Amino acid sequence: MTPTDSTETSLSTTFCFRSAQPSDGAALWHLVRATGTLETNSAYFYVLFATDFGATCLLAESPDGELAGAVIGYHPPAHPDTAFVWQVGVLPRWQGQGLGLALLQQWLALPANARCRWVTATVAEDNAASQALFRRLARAHGTSCDVRPHFTPDLFPIDHPAEPLFRVGPIERGTPVPV
Ligand SMILES: CC(C)(COP(=O)(O)OP(=O)(O)OC[C@H]1O[C@@H](n2cnc3c(N)ncnc32)[C@H](O)[C@@H]1OP(=O)(O)O)[C@@H](O)C(=O)NCCC(=O)NCCS
Repeated sequence: MTPTDSTETSLSTTFCFRSAQPSDGAALWHLVRATGTLETNSAYFYVLFATDFGATCLLAESPDGELAGAVIGYHPPAHPDTAFVWQVGVLPRWQGQGLGLALLQQWLALPANARCRWVTATVAEDNAASQALFRRLARAHGTSCDVRPHFTPDLFPIDHPAEPLFRVGPIERGTPVPV
């Protein structure tokens, strides 16, 4: 067992990882506000996402039931083999202890993501933690993290930094179970 394996094992026994239910929308909204870095969207947006895309969202709850971190994601309709991370966040007191990586790994293991060989996300150029997280995910899978221009500032109606696309993969997956 490598140190990373033991960290993941320890986190997976400390936290309860599960996909989202419609009733999780409010907690996701609170979590995103609490990270201090993520752009908080409307409460309606999180309720909608937890309802319609709950199978591709993952929550990490601490033993006392607090939401400590989450991945909010979906499959871009034109790329069904890709799992897109819209937002990933960890409460400040849990950051830097491996929970971000554990969240992405558990999220990839969700049944809804079983056939995804690519993970994408847009990451602002000044977000060092997020950039390091996706590069770390690529290393964990022995694969590449390609970065290319994507959302440029001129696309936004307000002052907004560029959001290059991080694309991790291809990721080796188990043999799909015949249905
Ligand atoms: C980005 C975030 C989810 C990472 O979660 P985390 O639990 O802190 O990350 P981990 O402990 O699993 O670390 C993963 C990698 O990121 C690196 N990292 C973590 N925090 C970092 C920081 N502040 N600066 C630079 N690298 C950092 C770790 O060193 C590790 O890389 P390494 O193994 O190469 O050393 C978390 O910092 C966060 O919630 N930030 C605020 C919200 C945000 O910016 N979300 C991303 C935009 S969608």
